[in-house]
Amino acid sequence: MADSFSLDLPQRPRRLRRTASLRALVEETQLHPADFIAPVFVVEGDAAPEEISSMPGVFRYGIESLITECRELAQLGVPAVALFPKLDAKLKDDEGSAALHEDALILRAVRAVKKAVPELTVITDIALDPYTTHGHDGLLTTSRDDVDNDRTVAVLAKMAVLHARAGVDLVAPSDMMDGRVGAIRRALDGAGFHGTGIMAYSVKFASAYYGPFRDAVGSAQAAGTRLLGKATYQLDPANRRSALTELALDEAEGADIVMVKPAGPYLDIIRDVRNATQKPVAAYQVSGEYAQLQAAAKLGWLDLKKTRRESLLAIKRAGADMILTYFAKEMARELRG
Ligand code: PBG
Repeated sequence: MADSFSLDLPQRPRRLRRTASLRALVEETQLHPADFIAPVFVVEGDAAPEEISSMPGVFRYGIESLITECRELAQLGVPAVALFPKLDAKLKDDEGSAALHEDALILRAVRAVKKAVPELTVITDIALDPYTTHGHDGLLTTSRDDVDNDRTVAVLAKMAVLHARAGVDLVAPSDMMDGRVGAIRRALDGAGFHGTGIMAYSVKFASAYYGPFRDAVGSAQAAGTRLLGKATYQLDPANRRSALTELALDEAEGADIVMVKPAGPYLDIIRDVRNATQKPVAAYQVSGEYAQLQAAAKLGWLDLKKTRRESLLAIKRAGADMILTYFAKEMARELRG
């Protein structure tokens, strides 16, 4: 007795964690390159890609280098890109009118990518923040203290039709105006684009984790503040039930894919949404989630490869079918070995 102390345990869960092959057999969640959507920033011109300072390893591409990047993503097995334009400041105005220009950068980018890499799914953001001087996702009310919901929706519906005409596979309204998914669906169908899908940013929180993205598209400087307040349209981070209200509305209005954003700090919401819908669920690991891992890794405080994998695994385990992540390319490369 004295030399072998042992508990009388019928259940010893550690038995299945004893070897790598046993652990592989009982592993419940796996990441694949096909889980990822790569967000990619686009600029005018053909200069060398410029790195975004608050997002190391993430670049803004001119159309030519964008195509190279998209080819590489497709070859690595990443099935989709989400394109975001950064406009020259001189093209921005109060009404975001450049969003409806027939030769807008984003439309040229979509046409070029669909032509060069037709197998890649191309997704575009439907919102006015890259186009407005104030950096809001919509048009302002006359008192200029809020976004005018219905006037904004009318513009977004037109914008979605332009994107569909350019050949985009999915439009992704990220603006959080009420009724925009329904209006976009009707506009697309009215113009004959029955096959163009809607990936709705259904559950998008008013998050401080969007800071680096606003640097990337230049909507932070334009607004004069890094943490532009969008609390009258984006969800309160304190709320779970509102998330399900937004989900139900977007589903009823015709969303094909629903999204939760940000992802990592909102795993409970991803699970709630997964349990409440039969639609595919996307989650967006946003710029600030990427930046915090990069920053800690740079200081030598975290292992970048291990933490990025764990962060993505957690998002998938929570119930996401697909993940928008700035780690898409590196992660796909790593997974393919
Ligand atoms: C704007 C938009 C934002 C993001 C995607 N689309 C920022 C915002 O709402 O201000 C954020 C993405 C990220 O942080 O990576 N329509």
